[in-house]
Amino acid sequence: MKTAAKSKTGRTGAKKTNGRLNLEHFWMPFTANRSFKAEPRIVTAAHGMFLTNEHGEDVLDAAAGLWCVNAGHGRKEIADAVHAALLHLDFAPTFQMGHPGPFKLAERLSKLMPKGFNRVFFANSGSEGVETALKIALGYQQMKGEGSRIRLVGREKGYHGVNFGGISVGGIMRNRQQFLPLLPGVDHLPAAVGKQKFVRDFPPHDSFPSDELERIIGIHGARTIAAVIIEPIIGSAGVYLPPQGYLQRIREITRKHGILLIFDEVITGFGRTGKGAFASTGLGVEPDIIIMAKGLTNGVVPMGAVAVRQEIHDAFMSAPEGIEFFHGYTYSGNPAACAAALATLDIYEDEGLFERAGKIAPKFQDMLFSFAHKPGVADVRGTGLIGGIELAPMGAPGAAGMKAFVQAWKEGVMARVTGDTLAFSPPLIIEEEHIERIRRTFESVLSKQYGW
Ligand SMILES: Cc1ncc(COP(=O)(O)O)c(C=O)c1O
Repeated sequence: MKTAAKSKTGRTGAKKTNGRLNLEHFWMPFTANRSFKAEPRIVTAAHGMFLTNEHGEDVLDAAAGLWCVNAGHGRKEIADAVHAALLHLDFAPTFQMGHPGPFKLAERLSKLMPKGFNRVFFANSGSEGVETALKIALGYQQMKGEGSRIRLVGREKGYHGVNFGGISVGGIMRNRQQFLPLLPGVDHLPAAVGKQKFVRDFPPHDSFPSDELERIIGIHGARTIAAVIIEPIIGSAGVYLPPQGYLQRIREITRKHGILLIFDEVITGFGRTGKGAFASTGLGVEPDIIIMAKGLTNGVVPMGAVAVRQEIHDAFMSAPEGIEFFHGYTYSGNPAACAAALATLDIYEDEGLFERAGKIAPKFQDMLFSFAHKPGVADVRGTGLIGGIELAPMGAPGAAGMKAFVQAWKEGVMARVTGDTLAFSPPLIIEEEHIERIRRTFESVLSKQYGW
């Protein structure tokens, strides 16, 4: 990392940015635009575990950007691969023709994926991956002669991106209520959030909320349901781990009733849980469709992908000759995105980052759980290199979380805030000294906020 003189906050800094950025025209996503623009937080550079703010100070990235920069920032290997790809082949369509990138990447992913997942469709984001997966599920049921299976089941607190299919199966009210009426024929499972607080790793099950799926099947009939989509660990809504046995039970029920199980691994993929490449591998639960994005390219070029079991693909290939799946994006398998993904997968493999995540995870979880039962801390949850510290509310919902997030940013650590939960998902290259800095910073932030 580049270091230079200490700034007035005592942190190392490069040089100050000059000039004033005009903040008026960019309508910022998922942001309180007016308050942000009154007190902006601007990132001007990034390297390794660190961002640089507009004052030239370093800010430790405890969120891997937005759960995506798993190999750390500024990876030259990826930049070089993208640069070379752009000079060699900047664009080629993948409709009715092809180029080597997506074929190579799909083969590579098939080797990394849980056994049996060997057909891959490319999109440009997690949201598009979700839409693609839902369409594959509906199309597959039709191809199998089960066209009555048109219903979808999601989960309360589930986040599946922001497109219409994704918000319909998603379970976060604020993401849905402005955009009614959404897709018809969708049911939601309960979030399966246990009553016990401060439980590290997957909580023991106190009830069996997965049996709610049997109830939904009992209402509509299994032959009307195409797929269940869930995040193996609820991420964006605040890091909630399912009780032990929950995902296995969902798998049993879906299999028994011929319902496809889609795992949205956009956050949990690429080493995040510290148990192999995907949560499904670590947990030993085999879905039928896996959605990935984010860490696929280390977040540096937009890309999403959907991997399916071969029999799902085979069902489409049994159609009469012609286009089998009327779906695709101009940038499906974009050359620069493929180059970024291949270089990223090389880094994960060469540096053994998934194993590394597993090794350092206990230290990271020790740090998170050192906040358990402190004044103002309502809950701590986490496993691997993902975790959440839920704060006691202060006024409006989300106010306590935002206050802590802003103060931590000022003191040199970026977490993610969702409601009153601070979410953590650092790059897998995190070292003990970084973990200690996160601990120190939040001790300072929370002790001031809650008067320890
Ligand atoms: C589980 C999950 N699915 C889908 C998405 C949407 O991904 P994107 O923002 O790339 O569209 C996200 C993003 O955070 C996610 O966490």
